[in-house]
Order: sequence, then C-alpha cells, then structure tokens
Amino acid sequence: MTTPKYSQQPKQAGGPYNYIDERVGVSGVIKGFARKIFPDHWSFLLGEIALYSFITLILTGIFLAMFFVPSMGTVTYPMDALPVTEQGNHMSEAYASTLKISFEVKGGLLMRQMHHWAALLFMASIVAHMLRVFFTGAFRKPRELNWLVGFTLLILGLLAGFTGYSLPDDVLSGNGLRIADGVAKAIPLLGTWVSFGLFGGEFPGTEIIPRLFTMHILVVPGLILALVGLHLLMVVIHKHTQYPGPGRKEENVVGFPVFPVYAAKAGGFFFIVFGFIALLGATLSINNVWSYGAYDPSPVSAGAQPDWYMLFLEGALRLTPGWEFELLGFTFSMSILIPGVVIPGILFTALALYPFIEAYATGDKREHHVLDRPRNVPVRTAIGCIIVVEFVILAIAGSNDIIATHFEMSLNGITWALRIAFLFAPFVTFWLVKRICLSLQRRDRELALHGRATGKVVQTEDGAFHSVHRPLDDYELWTLVQHDVHRPIEAGPETTPEGHPRREYKSLKRRSAVSRFFFEDRVEPVTKSELAAAHASHHQLDHASGRKSVSVAHLDTSDQQQIDS
Ligand code: HEM
Repeated sequence: MTTPKYSQQPKQAGGPYNYIDERVGVSGVIKGFARKIFPDHWSFLLGEIALYSFITLILTGIFLAMFFVPSMGTVTYPMDALPVTEQGNHMSEAYASTLKISFEVKGGLLMRQMHHWAALLFMASIVAHMLRVFFTGAFRKPRELNWLVGFTLLILGLLAGFTGYSLPDDVLSGNGLRIADGVAKAIPLLGTWVSFGLFGGEFPGTEIIPRLFTMHILVVPGLILALVGLHLLMVVIHKHTQYPGPGRKEENVVGFPVFPVYAAKAGGFFFIVFGFIALLGATLSINNVWSYGAYDPSPVSAGAQPDWYMLFLEGALRLTPGWEFELLGFTFSMSILIPGVVIPGILFTALALYPFIEAYATGDKREHHVLDRPRNVPVRTAIGCIIVVEFVILAIAGSNDIIATHFEMSLNGITWALRIAFLFAPFVTFWLVKRICLSLQRRDRELALHGRATGKVVQTEDGAFHSVHRPLDDYELWTLVQHDVHRPIEAGPETTPEGHPRREYKSLKRRSAVSRFFFEDRVEPVTKSELAAAHASHHQLDHASGRKSVSVAHLDTSDQQQIDS
C-alpha cells in the first residue's frame, strides 16, 4: 500500500479554513448553513435582487462620497469647467461638486448614474418582493416579525432614496425638500417647530444638506445593513417557505442545498444584477442635474417629478383640494396634512399590521411553511390589489402635468377623473378580484374532480351524452387539492347555559364580523370522498365509451374526420 505524499493530502486545501476555524470555531455553523435546503422558485429572486442592488448602492456610494461636498456654502462655478451653461454661476458647494463628479471626475458620471439606477431597482425589487410575500401569505406564523423587519426596511429604503436625491441641491431636490418642509409645517400645532428642527431654522437654511448627508451615508445604510442581516438570519432560522407542489408539506423543504448549488447561483446572480445596473448606468441618462440648474425657489416647472417610489405622495398632494380652516388663531391645512401625513400614515400602519389583522380573523395559531395560491385567499388578494391599484392611480396623479402637456388634455379634467377613480377603485377592485379568485377556485375544483375537457362528447348506449375529460396526473392534482379553507369564526350564544351573559361575547362578535368579511364567501376544497366518487363515475364512463356501439361527436373537425374514417 502506498502512502499518499504530503502534498496530495486534502488537508492542504483546507489550510486557511482550518487556521481560521481553530481560532474562531465557526465550522459547525458554516457546515449547518451549507447543508440548509432552499426551495427553488423564480419569485425568491426578488429579495435577492434587493440585496444585490443594495450592495451595488454601497459600492457606488463609497465612490461618490469621496468627491461630494456636503455643504451649502456658496461658490462661483469655474469659467474653465464643464458644463459651459454653468460657468460663472453662483451655486452651493453641494451642487458644484455634483457637476464636478459628472464632468471632471473620471468614471464619476457612470458611478452617479449607476447609483441612481441601483436605487430605483432596489426600491422596485423591495416592493415586488413585498408583494410576493403578501400575496402568497409568507408573512403568516412564524414570519410575522420578519414581515415587520422587512416593512422597516421598506421605510428605510424610502428614506434612503429621499435623503439621496435631495443631496445635489438642484431645482428638483430643492423642490422635494420644500414639499417635505410643507408636510412638516402641516402637522397641527407642532408643524413650525418640526420644520425649524429639521432645517435648523427657516427653510431652506444652510444646515439641511450636511444633515441629510449624515443620514444618507451613515445612519440609514447602517440601519439597513443591520436589519438586512437580521432579516436573512430569520429566513435561515424559520427556513424558507415553499410553493405547494408534489411532496411539499409543512414539515419538509423540497429544494437544493445552499452549498454548492445556491452559493454558485447567488454569486452568478449578483454579477448579473450588477452588470444590468452597469448597463443602465452606462447607456441611460438619469437625473442630469445640469439641465435643471441649482436650487432656486422660483423656477418650479411642469414635469418636476420625484423618483417613482415617491410619486404616490406627490400624486396624493396634487389630488387633494385646497382645504384649510382656522381655529383659535391656528391655520389647519388639510390639503397637505391629509395626503402628506394621514393617508401614508394609515396605509403604512395597515400594511405593517396586516399579518396580525389576518391572524385575528382566522384565529389560526398553526405555523405555515407552504405558501398560499393567491386565488385560494380571495379577500387578501383583493386587498393587495387595492393597494397596488391605488398606488398606481396616485403615481399617475403625480404625473398629471406630463399627461396634460403630452396629450393636450385638461389638467383639471385629469385631476377630477383621478379623484373619482381613487375613491371608487377600491370597491370595484375588491369586487372584481374577489369574484375572479372565487371563479378560479371553482375552475380548480372542476379540474380536480373531472380533469381537462378534451373537446369530445360521447353518447352511451342509453342515449345520454357525456363530454370526455382527461384526468389530471397526480402532480397537477396535488397542487389543486392540498389547501384547506378557513371558515368564519362563530361568536356563539350571548349567554351561558345558565343564562348569564358571556363576558367574551362582545369581543368574539367583533372577531366574528372581521372573520366573516374574510371568509364568508368561499369555495370548499375538494374532499377525498368527492375525488373518489368522481373517479369512480369517470371509470364507468371510460368503460362505456370504450365499447363499439358508442357514437362519438367531436368539437374538433380534424378529430371528427379521423374517427369517422
Ligand atoms: C432591503 C430590503 C430587503 C431585502 C434585501 C430582503 C431580502 C430577502 C431575501 C433575500 C429573502 C429570501 C428570499 C425570498 O423569499 O425572496 C427574504 C425573505 C423574506 N422577506 Fe425580505 N427583503 C427586504 C425587504 C422586505 C420587505 C419590505 C418585506 C415585507 C414587508 C419583507 C418580508 C420578507 C419575508 C416575510 C420573508 C420570508 C419569506 C419566505 O420565507 O417565504 N422583506 N427577504
């Protein structure tokens, strides 16, 4: 027997790994994580896109932070620097340094554009990821707290975006800040204090850019980084949810191990996302601040829009009529308070609390690791669609001037149409989506019981006509019949059998009302006995249609010819 040479021993490859492990002892944790099974589905990539665009934001942000000057001190733009349109103009150092990054620093414009595109993609992927989690019920026990962590990340993402695009101190960012100042001042009684607190005195002052800079490059990304870590840790602890499918149960995870399959996939996917952002940054111009000019309160023009994720706030401001009243010498401006504070306040609180509201309606204390098909939870799906539709209406309203100028339409006409749409869309959307979900459930039921229609009709010996269906295979069937359905919680009698009033009756009645709203209209899933009965009757029919005496009518003419001949 030959002894392997020292250099052939596998120990060599693990040298650095062993060195580190002997000092920090994390091999157990890493091995456990590497063996963790992850389910496979394209929609799980949405969270990953958020993660990779955030990494791209940090990388490009570090570059920008080296050249940006967070100061509102006034300078005169040099006569020999590009762009010529800005030569000799007075501007803040913040704006001048943004121009310098764009025109003088090598790779500066690419980095600026990549940073901005990455921010747009980051927010888009967060929102898409959140919608995936919402519509599939991935927020249910035990993931409610992770939903709250994710929700906080969404708010921090908005804050990161807002503080970022306010930095260059150009006309657009100055207008955004002025809106923020207006929203702060609209808070009853405290408004002026809040505004003075934010801006360090009268708007705009000279403090806001350095303050925003600290928030944008330190506080907000630091919090996002910490919370993303916590978020992913919770995903590992809870294990990932999986879509319903053959063999997938609450107790197992069907998928591939993190190492090597997911590690390789994730690494590759990071470069795809990074490359895509680089391509956008290199080819599509974004936020070319030199076209707008340095901030000056007077030139507010049509076509001034914030980034897409802030458009809903802009739209809400544009849709609200100029309501205002005075009380005890104070002016209460509803036209800003309602769209700027009340509507986002209600929307975001409801979104954060949704998992708890639904758990209250179901009374369900079980853990859920298999995802819902959106059609099987019609009220949740309808609520999600309302949020999306209202968001889109508000975003369109935030562009009402662009629509008016491009299509030569009346601005007031568009505003009124959108006001009406905003008020009625929730009802129409709710009704429509719920009906569609229930219809899809009925169709699933039919499919599970009778299979797919083949387009053939057979006549049996007794003269009856039957349409011929092809039964589903076991894999298709599993997905259609695996779910269970929630029924409304009953409040029970008002009094005990002894005739005493039940103390918990009132709260149960409230809960029952919420539960009825969610689950009153439902389609019962197929039971085992129904399936067995349907299969038995198909068997009989198959048997009958196999006999020579059966005449066959076809809906498909080519089929007809084939059989007739
Ligand atoms: C910086 C923003 C975010 C990042 C980087 C991020 C990243 C991720 C990743 C990579 C996963 C695992 C893959 C997946 O299920 O897609 C995940 C899961 C999850 N995320 Fe996020 N997420 C973010 C924001 C959010 C938001 C806004 C919410 C909801 C309010 C949310 C709720 C969840 C939940 C509940 C899970 C577990 C889902 C499951 O196991 O099916 N996340 N997140």
